[in-house]
Amino acid sequence: MSGPDYAAVLEEICAQVLAEPATGEVADYIPPLAQVDPDQFAMCVQTLDGERFMVGDVATRFSVQSVTKVFTAAMVLSHKDIMLWERVGVEPSGSPFNSLIQLELEQGIPRNPFINAGAIVVADALCGLYDDPKAAILEFVHELGADVSVDYDHEVAHAERDTGFTNLALANYLRAHGNLEHEVDRVLDVYFHQCSIAMDAKCLAGSFGFLANDGTLPIPNGRQILRPEQCRRLNALMLTCGFYDQAGEFAYQVGLPGKSGVGGGIAAVVPGELSLAVWSPRLNEHGNSARGVSALEKFVAMTGHSIF
Ligand code: DON
Repeated sequence: MSGPDYAAVLEEICAQVLAEPATGEVADYIPPLAQVDPDQFAMCVQTLDGERFMVGDVATRFSVQSVTKVFTAAMVLSHKDIMLWERVGVEPSGSPFNSLIQLELEQGIPRNPFINAGAIVVADALCGLYDDPKAAILEFVHELGADVSVDYDHEVAHAERDTGFTNLALANYLRAHGNLEHEVDRVLDVYFHQCSIAMDAKCLAGSFGFLANDGTLPIPNGRQILRPEQCRRLNALMLTCGFYDQAGEFAYQVGLPGKSGVGGGIAAVVPGELSLAVWSPRLNEHGNSARGVSALEKFVAMTGHSIF
């Protein structure tokens, strides 16, 4: 039985999305992100049998930002001796990604690894696992995305540091509660760099392939990153927490595990079938790509792919 004609589906989505009024603004709290052309759009689908379909600005690199929180969580979970879930919860936050209030109310245990506080604890765990966590993250991302040219955008990383007062507050608060083992500056240097990773939509789609494939990198690599049950849990967390205070709406409208970033990227998976990425820089009021969410709604409507 033949599956959906993904090439035609992507062309149709691109035409429909670009015909809609451009809503939302680019993230401007990090100056280099404010300079990105807001009306770019790219979408890429990579099937588990190695076929790739794409449309739009697929070769343009963008700041993947919070999408990298999935990579770092997977890195920590792949070390079997690390008890991450004693330090970070698995509940949706229903709050903005950089909320301080919840961390105070819950005595320094972040709700989940995808809000900033949770990702900072994950970065701290990486500082304990690797002498050079920044190099280790890049090496991991190179393997996931099958692209060794992916790199940090140092201008973005420095701008994150220069404007990251809330992250500094979160990290200090975690440290005050004994939930940060390393120096605040060292941990945040890792966190700010992971946010600055620049990738194109092709690479981002491919880098989520292992999450569609029970935790194992699709052919030709074939290396197991996570056990199938760990992969299912990370996908459950993406579904429930991947879009912050829009997570419920995204699950309702799209119904795929995914993760967004304030650079306008979203990566998602159809377990057992494919991984995909969409990028468009204008963000809605929840900090998620407005056209990206719209494109994914259309994708599930046209293909019937949903985990429900
Ligand atoms: O911590 C920050 O402010 C950012 N660099 C990461 C934010 C992000 O992408 C949040 N998610 N949508």
